[in-house]
Amino acid sequence: MAPVPTISTDAVDVPVALLGYGTVGAAVHRLLVENAEDIERATGHRLRVVKALVRDPQRARKWLPDPTILTTDFAEIRDDPSIAIVAEVMGGIEPTGTYMRELFAAGKPVVTANKQLLAQRGGDMFGAAKAAGVQLRFEASVCAAIPVIKVLRESLIVTNVRRVLGIVNGTTNFMLTNMEGGADYAGALAEAQRLGYAEADPTEDVGGGDAAAKMAILASVAFGCRITLADVDFQGITEVTQAHVAAARELQMVVRLVGSATLVGSSYDVRVRPSLVDRQHPLAAVDGAFNAVMLQGDAIREIMLEGPGAGGIETASAVVADMVAIMGTHGTGFLQNDSTWRTLQKLPAGELPSPFYVHIEVDDRPGVLARIAERFAAHEVSVSRLIQTPIDSGAAMHVVLHEAPEGRVLRSLADIAELPETRSRPMALPVVSDRGVSGLGWS
Ligand SMILES: NC(=O)c1ccc[n+]([C@@H]2O[C@H](COP(=O)([O-])OP(=O)(O)OC[C@H]3O[C@@H](n4cnc5c(N)ncnc54)[C@H](OP(=O)(O)O)[C@@H]3O)[C@@H](O)[C@H]2O)c1
Repeated sequence: MAPVPTISTDAVDVPVALLGYGTVGAAVHRLLVENAEDIERATGHRLRVVKALVRDPQRARKWLPDPTILTTDFAEIRDDPSIAIVAEVMGGIEPTGTYMRELFAAGKPVVTANKQLLAQRGGDMFGAAKAAGVQLRFEASVCAAIPVIKVLRESLIVTNVRRVLGIVNGTTNFMLTNMEGGADYAGALAEAQRLGYAEADPTEDVGGGDAAAKMAILASVAFGCRITLADVDFQGITEVTQAHVAAARELQMVVRLVGSATLVGSSYDVRVRPSLVDRQHPLAAVDGAFNAVMLQGDAIREIMLEGPGAGGIETASAVVADMVAIMGTHGTGFLQNDSTWRTLQKLPAGELPSPFYVHIEVDDRPGVLARIAERFAAHEVSVSRLIQTPIDSGAAMHVVLHEAPEGRVLRSLADIAELPETRSRPMALPVVSDRGVSGLGWS
């Protein structure tokens, strides 16, 4: 076992290391060098990168003033007692998780940008950090430069945050904004890939898994309860078409991939869904690759944080802020480490109330509208607005429903799907329109 380093609060020079020297890692190094004086003024310390773990040291890199810092041997970082903090910016679940556990055991605090590792194995990681008595900080794992973790766990400590609504994936928001401009799904994806907003394999973004991991982390911090990726009910934007975007426009709304985490009594609901957002709602104004998180709670009504949710320098700014925070704080209590402390039940599927938009395609026959209305009424679901557009010898109905539990809406749609006039499976998307809360029993 390596000797446990102690961070001397007197030392000006503080050697640090990076796991990963890619987009984010190089940007962390650059920020530490270019802002060394500011950091020293604020903290009395200079954080100096002495080692960075990579796979291929020969690969060309954007910013590398000193190639001798690169290593392929993790033990050089783990076993160097002078290294006081490690920033994990390599991504992936393994070997990353094992490396982090070994760093904790060696007494090194870690800062991470890794949302999937925390959303899938947060319990293990925070447990290992706590057992070793070191900090694990993770601001960069959610929405890059937006300081939402710090605000949730520090600034809002006496506020019961009961709902978090967010646009937490820049790739899909860029694509949906592009589709509003007329592009189809494939064209919007190609443009996002051309501009570097989407990976060659975009599955984690367009399938909703990236947003779901971020929502699991946000919900865990907001509600003080461990919520993992497996607890998040998520759907991406792969089925969103120009027809949905055009219908939203007709209804004075926009389509957005919205993550929501809601506290209902002692239950939580965390989900990610393509949703229709009222143009008056602040989330509707979040365009392009930007992210935004709205926090609603007892004392604050609501707070919205908006900003760039990805990018090397943007993410690195949060990594560096966490490294500086470690130098500036001591101990491993609630404010520095794991923020979860209780167990909540998962709200049963279908119980969360929401307004919905429903798309139904039918043969245009007398009485069909009445039969659809009857099916909604049978499940105590009521219609707020209806637009009908002609399609070849039939009609497309764009229906906005008043707030109702999703289960009742889905049961009424199952009944409507059985009608002989119904042409295809009706589709329901949640509508985001209210800025307050209703129907959830909150005071
Ligand atoms: N990029 C963003 O906008 C962004 C935003 C928020 C969060 N993040 C998170 O930040 C982390 C890093 O992202 P990134 O965009 O910087 O990734 P990246 O450009 O692919 O860089 C990854 C780095 O880690 C190294 N690496 C990967 N696996 C390794 C292994 N098994 N052993 C040794 N080195 C290994 C790579 O080495 P080589 O250079 O030799 O290949 C590379 O230097 C991820 O967790 C990501 O989710 C990124």
